[in-house]
Amino acid sequence: MRKRMIPVCIPLLGEKELEYVTDCIKTNWISSKGKYVEEFEEKFAKYCGCKYGITTTSGTTALHLALASINTKKGDEVIMPASTMIATAFAVIYCGAKPVLVDAEPETWNIDVEKIEEKITNKTKAIMPVHIYGHPCDMDPIMKITEEHELYVIEDAAEAHGAEYKGKKTGGIGDIGCFSFYANKIITTGEGGMVVTNDEEIADRAKSLRNLCFPKEKRVYLHSEVGYNYRMTNIQAAIGLAQFERIDELAEMRRRNAHLYNKYLKSVKGITLPIEKEWAKNVYWMYSILIEDEFGMSRDELMNELEKRGIETRTFFISMHEQPVFWEMGLFEGESYPVAEELARTGMYLPSSSGLKEEEIKFICDVIKEIKELVKCTKT
Ligand SMILES: Cc1ncc(COP(=O)(O)O)c(C=O)c1O
Repeated sequence: MRKRMIPVCIPLLGEKELEYVTDCIKTNWISSKGKYVEEFEEKFAKYCGCKYGITTTSGTTALHLALASINTKKGDEVIMPASTMIATAFAVIYCGAKPVLVDAEPETWNIDVEKIEEKITNKTKAIMPVHIYGHPCDMDPIMKITEEHELYVIEDAAEAHGAEYKGKKTGGIGDIGCFSFYANKIITTGEGGMVVTNDEEIADRAKSLRNLCFPKEKRVYLHSEVGYNYRMTNIQAAIGLAQFERIDELAEMRRRNAHLYNKYLKSVKGITLPIEKEWAKNVYWMYSILIEDEFGMSRDELMNELEKRGIETRTFFISMHEQPVFWEMGLFEGESYPVAEELARTGMYLPSSSGLKEEEIKFICDVIKEIKELVKCTKT
């Protein structure tokens, strides 16, 4: 018999999702036209403090669409954290532009704002802060730098639905915000994403690029630009709207999980717990920890032991400058980002589903403590 695993993350879907999806099927509105797309875009954008929402097929395509909408092209540079999910960098590559990396800062694991300015050149087009694992970036210094240098800010808020920086929702602070609705995100559409903005021109351009640059006026098949089909379906948006209706509850569940983990793990030596800066509301997309030498075994050894005991985990992302795909392109040669490297070596996340029960969290923490005790015994 297969052992039951506690998965790293599963979605929480309910009757509303079923009702709205059933409505799409019963009414035949299954492609990208339909009331759920519009309603989901309008409501989610407003939630982020934005006028316009443009749904897409994924977080990756949302990032690409955002960059394309501000006309990012060959020769441009886009500043981003070294420690992020690869889609942030790929989106820049799709535009023919060059990702320029900045190390992480050790407390929040986000882009180190003190190290941004030294990376700005006359080719810099935009800065893409990533609100990693649900903790917002320190946005004020980023906004100040970009104002001074007249750069765009594209927030990669794929992991940070509902997170706040000084009371403002992430995704709604910069010129453009990008979200992912993959199944492990705080709200999901299965696969999907959204671009949010307050800039009408950017919104219009994003809508056109998303839909193969069809002419606005009439459905004539004359195109003057290359566009993409990044349209979300009404079925996906139906799930998204149902999820959106409980977004605060879902984010609160992630926060509750994090507080429970913190409570049960705070006394364990050798584990660094995630933090919440005084200016931040962290939504703890994934409950992320660092395994220090003092723990007595490596992060990878701990992950193996947890897997044997039915607990699924994941490592942190591997830094962009350590990706073979970019070396092949001649990027990041000889560059070093010590904080990002250390995070990739020691970081992992524990099961983080919104629907986790307290007894499961306690069980996971007890297992971690038991494993630590075992290494202590074998080493003495
Ligand atoms: C920071 C970040 N950016 C972008 C993405 C890409 O989103 P998607 O998987 O929906 O394409 C992800 C996905 O997890 C992410 O974590």
